Amino acid sequence: MDAQTKLTFAIEEHGNPVPASERAERIADPGFGRVFTDHMAMVRWSKDKGWHDAKITARRPIEMDPASSVLHYAQEIFEGMKAYRLADGATALFRPEENARRFNRSATRMAMPELPEQLFLESIEKLVSIDREWIPTAEGGALYIRPFMFASEVFLGVRPAHEYLYLVIASSVGAYFKGGAKAISIWVSEDYTRAAPGGTGAAKCGGNYAASLVAQAQAIENGCDQVVFLDAAEHRWVEELGGMNLFFVMEDGSMVTPPLKGTILPGITRESILALARDEGIAVREEEYAIDQWRADAESGRLRETFACGTAAVVTPVGTVRSSKGDFTIGAGGTGQLTQRLRDRLVGIQRGEQADPHGWVKRLF
Ligand code: PLP
Ligand code: COI
Repeated sequence: MDAQTKLTFAIEEHGNPVPASERAERIADPGFGRVFTDHMAMVRWSKDKGWHDAKITARRPIEMDPASSVLHYAQEIFEGMKAYRLADGATALFRPEENARRFNRSATRMAMPELPEQLFLESIEKLVSIDREWIPTAEGGALYIRPFMFASEVFLGVRPAHEYLYLVIASSVGAYFKGGAKAISIWVSEDYTRAAPGGTGAAKCGGNYAASLVAQAQAIENGCDQVVFLDAAEHRWVEELGGMNLFFVMEDGSMVTPPLKGTILPGITRESILALARDEGIAVREEEYAIDQWRADAESGRLRETFACGTAAVVTPVGTVRSSKGDFTIGAGGTGQLTQRLRDRLVGIQRGEQADPHGWVKRLF
């Protein structure tokens, strides 16, 4: 075992945590991404020392030099995962090793150091353990965990930094969309694309999200909840939403989802839905689906359902699609049967209420 795998987290408990009564108020109806727990995890990396200085400490502002290279060249990656309170009171994570692996694939793409998987997992487990009381008890509530890493070296030259900071914060969350699990409307972006071949679409780097915001703002201006991106080369193939993957359900009961060719994020929810659908004997194809075909199939009835999926959004039905060429409705515009069944199955596993044949749920304590 090398020094970095042996690294242990020093625990510095918050001297003045949020009192229990105030915490209960904050987590009663937390929305998404506004309520934060008392602690954070932190590990430093430098070219000389590798990973060092691991700790769980009070969540607080971090001091940054204005020349920290992330502020200039955006060398930053993140992950998104949830800790759940199970029916029997235990706390669990869902496939956290997959987040660890994806984090390292993102790191490699952004010329950043990889984090030993064990360190990633330990940072999450230790943080969830110390802040477990922040998991909301209301239905659909969870602790959203946000590991991230950025270039902290004070240097303006353009090259991979020699110093990085890895942090994990946690946020008590309810549903990502205000309407809960109701069908959402999406806007087809014809002006902007999210990722090009050879670009960073498959990495979870902050820059991808920065680049999506103007298109997301157009979606809102056009009365939609989310934006859907098409491929950059032909503006024809449906890729994904700003923060969710897409599935299409056909009238013969088969499903289609866009393939992983480097321009979309390999969602862990996507991969789990693929496995659950195959468990049920559903034929699922990972293949390209054209925007014109989507419209034609919705209009002819060949397409029955469309849903988006991701850690934050879980499984969310898409009811309407809007573009400069006009709107189309999917099915009856609400939640399709298979969408509901797959959502119930996934959530049932995540919450420990249904059998977990793939061993996805990691019970912590
Ligand atoms: N696509 C994008 C662009 C995302 O940001 C996310 C969210 O993480 C997803 C898809 C879904 O990924 P996952 O299911 O791993 O949360
Ligand atoms: C997630 O589902 O975890 C995401 O990262 C989507 C969004 C909140 C960025």
